[in-house]
Amino acid sequence: MAVTCLALPSAGSIRASEVRTIRARAGSVHLRGAEQAPTAVWGYDGVVPGPVLRVKRGEEIMVRLANDLPEPTSVHWHGLRLPNAMDGVPHLTQAPIEPGQSFDYRFKATDAGTYWYHSHVYSSEQIERGLYGALIVDEAERIDVDQDLVLVIDDWRLLPDGALDTASFRSAHDAAHAGRIGRHLTVNSTPSLDIPVRANERLRLRVINAANARLVTLRLEGHAAWVMAIDGQPAEPFLARDSQVTLGPGNRIDLFADAALAPGAQAPILVENSGAEVPLVNLRYATGAPARPAPRAQAKPLPSNGLPGRMAFKEAFRLDVPIEGGAMSELMMRGRTQEIPGHGLDPRARFWTMAGAASSGHHGPPLFSVKRGRVVMLGFVNATAFPHGMHVHGHHFRLLDKNDDGWKPFWLDSVVVAPRETARIAFVADNPGKWMLHCHMLEHQETGMAAWFEVI
Ligand code: C2O
Ligand code: CU
Repeated sequence: MAVTCLALPSAGSIRASEVRTIRARAGSVHLRGAEQAPTAVWGYDGVVPGPVLRVKRGEEIMVRLANDLPEPTSVHWHGLRLPNAMDGVPHLTQAPIEPGQSFDYRFKATDAGTYWYHSHVYSSEQIERGLYGALIVDEAERIDVDQDLVLVIDDWRLLPDGALDTASFRSAHDAAHAGRIGRHLTVNSTPSLDIPVRANERLRLRVINAANARLVTLRLEGHAAWVMAIDGQPAEPFLARDSQVTLGPGNRIDLFADAALAPGAQAPILVENSGAEVPLVNLRYATGAPARPAPRAQAKPLPSNGLPGRMAFKEAFRLDVPIEGGAMSELMMRGRTQEIPGHGLDPRARFWTMAGAASSGHHGPPLFSVKRGRVVMLGFVNATAFPHGMHVHGHHFRLLDKNDDGWKPFWLDSVVVAPRETARIAFVADNPGKWMLHCHMLEHQETGMAAWFEVI
């Protein structure tokens, strides 16, 4: 059965200037539809996705995270440029929140856009169990759309009775290959979502990839899709080719789609799953009169969040970061390949390296250290047979063209680097503190593909 209310952003919103307590706790959700037995999960306030946190740009977010889980946790505000102490990285920016304890997060939402929050302790397990939610920062001015919809996509590995397959959390095979990919796809934790639309409405679709390791490729049938923002930050709008976009783990894309079909029509939004396309969303047109006589004119770009218009490459700090390891690599031949007993992935399991080191990303020396305001240019040199979604905390970056002589017309906080490819990025290191830099394929992150850098 399709559920519509989950797509509505108003439910569970916080208002500015109130402290909202969120409890990380056990709960259950109907991942396979309302008629099937629910799945036991961990969620913020016991639901998955957690409550949609919604504020206006410039307002404060005040969340008290209460830990009702049997193990430590923390919250990372993915993609937000915030004070380092609020970044939620255990051991690097805060102590893990122990069971029964709480932690107050408080920061200003400086950037409008689509963000998400998630656990950063035993991420591969806690996020997989459901500890994530959407964080929407509204633009100061009104954006002219009829519907503003949050679509959080995840994949799950379920046992035949619908329970989460937790035994394979410790799979060294997953960690050494593409990460944990589940075959059961959901949007807002339901297998199919019905969205009622009226002809000539403009939809803003805020797509979030919350999967541990899956690249989510999504296609709108019968509708043109304008890419308006990526990873929260406004882009120079462009039409998605074939109305299709791909999001690495952690990526977000804001799409504008005009409902151009006739009253009574239906059209799916499809997501690729093992070579086939699964209709996760159904746009169901009302039969009555159109919302307006004709679609709107082409949308103007979303208002800028004030990221720098230029960067001085000449004085930049440059570093190439080779990425090595994974199944069949030399590192693995020397390393440990057996299933790992105990809790989570064994912290000594090291299948991947960045710049020659396998790290937790919060111990040991920094990968680099720069003065505040310095331009940083990194080259992610993927020498492995797998794609990696490289995520930088606290900063948005540009993806550079081949000769560093230009950049793509958007900003990112996570970039997918294809096997045997190099991605070059540039950003202004203007946020002081200790920031993590890691693969958002969470099983990779936890087996070595993590580092941190310092802005002083
Ligand atoms: Cu979305 Cu370090 O994480
Ligand atoms: Cu990776």
